[in-house]
Amino acid sequence: MILLTGGSGQLSTLVAEGAKDAGLDIRIGTRSANETDRSRRRVDFDDPQTLRFSDIGTLFMISAGYAEDDVVIRRHDAAIAAAVRDGVRHVVYTSLSGTGDHLAFSLAHRWTENRLKDSGLAWTILRNGLYAELIGALATPVDGVIRAPFGTGRMSPVARRDLADAAVTVLKDPPAHAGRVYELSGADAWSVADLADALGVTYRPSSLEEARASLNGAPLEPFQPPMLMSIYSSAAAGFLQASHTDLSALISAKPRPTLPIALEAARAAK
Ligand SMILES: NC(=O)c1ccc[n+]([C@@H]2O[C@H](COP(=O)([O-])OP(=O)(O)OC[C@H]3O[C@@H](n4cnc5c(N)ncnc54)[C@H](OP(=O)(O)O)[C@@H]3O)[C@@H](O)[C@H]2O)c1
Repeated sequence: MILLTGGSGQLSTLVAEGAKDAGLDIRIGTRSANETDRSRRRVDFDDPQTLRFSDIGTLFMISAGYAEDDVVIRRHDAAIAAAVRDGVRHVVYTSLSGTGDHLAFSLAHRWTENRLKDSGLAWTILRNGLYAELIGALATPVDGVIRAPFGTGRMSPVARRDLADAAVTVLKDPPAHAGRVYELSGADAWSVADLADALGVTYRPSSLEEARASLNGAPLEPFQPPMLMSIYSSAAAGFLQASHTDLSALISAKPRPTLPIALEAARAAK
């Protein structure tokens, strides 16, 4: 049986849909399951009592970001330790693409990759690129102007749905993907200037200093401004463009064009 963690999240929901369509035997794990919930079970990396995997063959472990590094590392360590203790055969982990090496949240991902490789478990690492949906939302124009400081660097974001399709391919036959690290950036590349052109708005990026001041004044968690600033800096420096992606090795269809997805997200977030 396969357990998908993070069951209420957007990526996990898409993976669950694809896995069900493929006839895979899955269970949904989420912090939001309650005792009367038959179709889902409670899985919270912060609560050791919920990390019971003895009936699980494959653990599909969605990264639980959105916290300081020590918190994320503690969560992932607890989940992997429980998988080892309970005899899980294979862990599939959603990590971050190599293009994201300079992002503030890459550290916890790389730590988790190492923890998994040293665990003695069979593993597959899906190094997901930044979502096109995320880039679009961050580049939302205000009064006809995009101010987010992405610079002019081209990026290779990826459709969340393609990442879910790639995950389902791995879940259909985990042993065939054991010991593999897949780089899953998008297949096309564009800049926020291209996005602005397609939206018919002006792109006038602020400086990083202006962006940081604005984020520091926003109602955000303390870890969030550095996370966002690292996305802007990495994009502007050109690090978010991939020279290679393994997407086509895991999905049979052509990768979805990502500019339209970002466009839709930018319009929706207005
Ligand atoms: N590649 C990218 O551009 C990008 C962008 C944003 C985030 N991410 C990372 O990729 C993951 C999946 O993305 P998404 O779009 O599905 O994000 P999302 O919709 O915001 O979902 C957040 C996920 O984190 C899980 N989570 C949070 N705290 C947890 C805990 N203590 N124990 C177990 N699970 C916990 C949630 O599971 P519950 O069902 O238990 O709530 C949920 O699946 C995110 O969690 C984040 O680490 C990647």
